Formats: sequence, C-alpha cells, structure tokens
Amino acid sequence: MFTDSHAHIYSEYYDDISKVLSRAKEKNIGRIINNGVDNKTNKEVLSTIEEFPEIYGAIGIHPEHVHEYSIDDINFIIDNLNNPKIVAIGEIGLDYHYEKESKEAQIKLFERQLAIAEQYNMPVVIHSREATQDTIDTLKKYHVKGVIHSFSGSKEVANIYIKMGFLLGINGVITFKNSNIKDVYKDIPLENIILETDSPYLTPHPYRGEKNEPSYIYDIANFVADLKQVPIDKLAEQTNKNIKKMFSKIIN
Ligand code: NI
Repeated sequence: MFTDSHAHIYSEYYDDISKVLSRAKEKNIGRIINNGVDNKTNKEVLSTIEEFPEIYGAIGIHPEHVHEYSIDDINFIIDNLNNPKIVAIGEIGLDYHYEKESKEAQIKLFERQLAIAEQYNMPVVIHSREATQDTIDTLKKYHVKGVIHSFSGSKEVANIYIKMGFLLGINGVITFKNSNIKDVYKDIPLENIILETDSPYLTPHPYRGEKNEPSYIYDIANFVADLKQVPIDKLAEQTNKNIKKMFSKIIN
C-alpha cells in the first residue's frame, strides 16, 4: 500500500472525488494527505477527512495567499489542530518566484505558523521556491520537523534539511525527461524520502498535460524504485514507515 503524502483534493479541481479515490485504490494508494492553502481550502480539507476514511489533512496558509489571510483564518487553523485526522500544519513556506516583493510579509506569516506548530507539537509541510536560504534560516528559529514538499535542490541542501529532521517529498518532477533531480535522489537514503503527487499539479510522465491525481503515485513509485534499485514493496514499506514516524497521528 502506498501513501500520497501531498495532494490538493478540492471540488474546484475534481468533479467527483470518490471516483478519484477509487482509481487510487485500484493502484493500491490507500492513504492521502490533503493539504489546504487558504481558509476556503482548509475548510474543504476538513470536510474531505470527515467524508473519506483514506484522507488525512494538513491545514495552513500558503505564501501565495499572503495578501488575503486574516487573523480569523489563523485561529481557524489553531481551533482544528485537535482533529484526530489533521496530521500537520501545511502547506506553508516561502515562494519568491512570483512574490519576491512580499518577502517580509511571507516570512511573518511563515513564522506565525511555525510558532503554532512548535506550540502544538505538529509537523509542518513546507513549500520553498527560490527561497532556500530564508527557508532554512526561518526553520532554524523553531523546534519543528516535517516535510520539504517537492524538494528539488542540491545534495548539499538535501543534507541540511535531513540534518534538521526533515523528510524530502518526491513527486512527478523526477519523471520529467529534463529533470536533474534524479542524481540528487539516487544518493538519498530511503529513510529520508516520501512520495507525493501534488495533485492536481506536476503530473508525471507519461501523463503530462493531463490533470494529476493520487493514482499516479503508482507511476512515481515505480520510477523511484527503479532509480534506487529497490523492490517496490520495500519502497512502499519504508516510505509508509517514514510517514507514520513523522505524522504521528496516522496510526494505521
Ligand atoms: Ni502543494
């Protein structure tokens, strides 16, 4: 059984979520962590974890929504952390690709959520784009652990995050012909990685151009097993172990 450790399963992307989940089940993907990015999607995460047993949730405010959030949205996150199926605070972080001019505001929002994670002892799901140094510096101010989602940096940066207690999330990008992260992941121990789709984005080869969905974990897993020369069962077992250790509210 595989876990999709990072997806965005909202009704705006998928007309029929139960069909998406049954296609995932056919490929032996038995668990999905659904990530919110703002108040609206955090609420959707809460309704999906209630409706579907295989869905767990992470709630947070993504840096792209830095201009829209209110204190009520932050309080909403705090108020729902005791839900047994909310396993992390995410997706949170820094994105300087489109939003360089909002650096300060992004760091403030990021720090606010890291402080909550530290206080409530919750792991964090980190989005970091063109912001590696600030991400590392900010994370170091808090006692938190979690996942660097969609990690695509160098071996050196991978080792820094691993030393800080973070897992690295691999997704469909690794299957792209022009991707150079294969070399980085080749040398990273299985104990430090987990698999994700980031659905509906980052659809793996050979489905590029279509909408991504959790069933494609099957293709990502096969690619990674091949790259790392390990049996697929071993990859499933170790990545699930990593997930349960990190997201301690996932017990079965
Ligand atoms: Ni995401």
